[in-house]
Amino acid sequence: MKVSIIGAGQVGSTLAMRIVESDLADVVLVDIFRNLALGKSLDILDAAPLIGHERTVIGTDDYADIRGSQIVVITAGLPRKPGMSRDELSSKNCEVVKAVSGHIKAKAPDSIVIVVTNPLDAMTYLAYKTTAFKRYKVFGMAGELDGSRFKSIIANGLNVPRASVQTFILGSHGDTMVPILSNTSVNGKPILSLLPKSRIDELVGKTRARGAEIVSHLGTGSAYFSPSAAIFKMLRAVIKDTKETLTVSAYLDGEYGLKDIAIGVPCKLGRSGIEEIVELKLSEEEKNALAKSARAIKDSIAPLAI
Ligand code: APR
Repeated sequence: MKVSIIGAGQVGSTLAMRIVESDLADVVLVDIFRNLALGKSLDILDAAPLIGHERTVIGTDDYADIRGSQIVVITAGLPRKPGMSRDELSSKNCEVVKAVSGHIKAKAPDSIVIVVTNPLDAMTYLAYKTTAFKRYKVFGMAGELDGSRFKSIIANGLNVPRASVQTFILGSHGDTMVPILSNTSVNGKPILSLLPKSRIDELVGKTRARGAEIVSHLGTGSAYFSPSAAIFKMLRAVIKDTKETLTVSAYLDGEYGLKDIAIGVPCKLGRSGIEEIVELKLSEEEKNALAKSARAIKDSIAPLAI
């Protein structure tokens, strides 16, 4: 099994480490800066005898090396700077993702593509359109990360084990993300019956702001431990063919009443990529919030002239 990661920065290199140290796949790490990819790959490999695995990591700037990849992950781009919204990154990362998608189409035409570059939903849409791969083979990482943040914040706030929290976050990876409170529970008890709405809103607010909070603490760069963990979970579902339902940014063609857009929805993942788009029953309020989130994504895609 071969996974290529485009972008050997914080997210890409941490993901590479997670993949080989879990013995999931061999990795090709591609960056526009060859020495960065090379240096990171050597450093990851020097830990192999310590961790105890026989996986390979190749660092390169040559897209010929991604040939034969089953999955290609796009993390290439510029990260958010303090005070910068995800959408401000749009036009710069648009050029990068368009170029990278062209290389993937040429060199790894049978691969599944997982997009991570922000603004996530617009970049997923762009990668889908540029590769012209089947829609179940191109999707983005966001909802699993936002959901994990929400679970962590709920568990912390209620002092309960993280594993007891269940939730979905749909919609855009941005300010209009849609926590599905009708499907959020702690030890099987609906959160709406456990906490007053004002307290839930506080926890949701913290979740929405978490990415920016991390950016402001770090000063340079954005989150990478939890994003790489969320990508890893998606990769594992595909490689191990688990058929787990995970929230990913998927291209919709009528599901949830939405068309020609990439947006976060629960999907069953397996060897062929998205094997089913799962349509949850949403409350009226949640349906309206999802429609609003879709409008925000369409607004972010429009100026990119894809
Ligand atoms: N081709 C290949 N690599 C590129 C290109 C390109 N055209 N342009 C930029 N890169 C590389 C950079 O050289 C850098 O090493 O992409 C890497 C991005 O890494 P970081 O700047 O460390 O960013 P990271 O924190 O990894 O985030 C990557 O994920 O969460 C999102 O918003 C985040 O879009 C960002 C992406």
